[in-house]
Amino acid sequence: MSELKVGLAGLGTVGAAVFRMLERRAGELEARTGRAVKVTAVAARDRSRDRGLDLSSVTWFEDPVALAREGDIDVLVELMGGDGDPAKAAVAAALDRGIPVVTANKALLAKSGVDLARRAEASGAGLHFEAAVAGGIPIVKTLREALAGNAIERVSGILNGTCNYILTRMADEKLSFHVCLTEAQRLGYAEADPTFDIDGFDTAHKLAILTSLAFGTQVDAEAIYVEGIRQLTLADLEAADDLGYRVKLLGVAVKTDTGIEQRVHPTMVPKHWPIAQVSGVTNAVAVDGDAVTLTLVGPGAGGDATASAVVGDIFDVARGAKGYAFGLPVERLAKAERAAMQRHEGG
Ligand code: NDP
Ligand code: HSE
Repeated sequence: MSELKVGLAGLGTVGAAVFRMLERRAGELEARTGRAVKVTAVAARDRSRDRGLDLSSVTWFEDPVALAREGDIDVLVELMGGDGDPAKAAVAAALDRGIPVVTANKALLAKSGVDLARRAEASGAGLHFEAAVAGGIPIVKTLREALAGNAIERVSGILNGTCNYILTRMADEKLSFHVCLTEAQRLGYAEADPTFDIDGFDTAHKLAILTSLAFGTQVDAEAIYVEGIRQLTLADLEAADDLGYRVKLLGVAVKTDTGIEQRVHPTMVPKHWPIAQVSGVTNAVAVDGDAVTLTLVGPGAGGDATASAVVGDIFDVARGAKGYAFGLPVERLAKAERAAMQRHEGG
């Protein structure tokens, strides 16, 4: 079989880790798929920056949209971020050409996931986004494929590594919010604009994607009640601790009599509950189905953890895996009902 030529748009924390992982795992990927998987073209802003990568044999594009439109590639891997252009234009251009796309960009999917899935269906190209939700945890494939036989009642969990890292270190080490946020940024966990993390919007983007996968609805981030952790102080966490609770930023999507309720907010969780013990950058996603109830726990952010999910999707492309982006054809995704959002106080 022919080589799989990968176009990598974005060479930051995740993009560089994907480049290195593809080099490291090249032999295994070829053995499993019958195709040599090779990065042949890249795009990033600053060509002069030393990224510790051997880019001597790749074609460099200044413009990621040109890479998507004209690059000699078999798959576009979008790791730039941002819910608008150039990420959106690049992904749309590749899909319109019939080139499959792998992306970790939940902001883009939360805003334009339906449009992009429609383009993927029209051209027959796949849209793969395992890395967009909960980093290294394979929750997208779990909901879309492994749990397809279940009627899902509820999906919930810790979906933002930066916030969980901040809340854990504040509570355990009595550090200030800002010291912890700066460290999360240094470690490559936070978004380019960390307000997305700390104000709860990154969790909401991920929850919107999970809701669509779990309930067969259109992605609808606007319907989510969102409250972040910016206002929490060390005194708040200490008071919760005295009462026997840990504070966690949770995303919750639950089926109710009036529709799907989606909400993101800090929650007091009894210390003896397993989710209270999920620490640092770790994420946890709990799924309640009519046949199976499970919780997946794993690294929610960081270069290697996220690259693991991205490379898993590239593997799917190499082996020719087919399927609808959100589990159902776009025309069959019902519009998420806007349920009355109730402010959730306590656990
Ligand atoms: P970074 O900011 O580290 O990297 C972004 C990369 O995109 C950089 O290489 C940058 O170029 C390039 N880029 C940005 N804008 C442009 C542009 N206009 N034209 C060309 N290149 C551009 O981000 P991350 O690697 O952290 O995140 C990438 C994506 O992965 C985002 O969607 C993020 O939400 C998602 N994600 C991140 C995780 C993490 O732990 N970091 C986890 C899960 C998902 P240059 O290097 O030259 O500046
Ligand atoms: N900023 C995100 C987080 C990256 O901290 O969870 C992973 O999606």
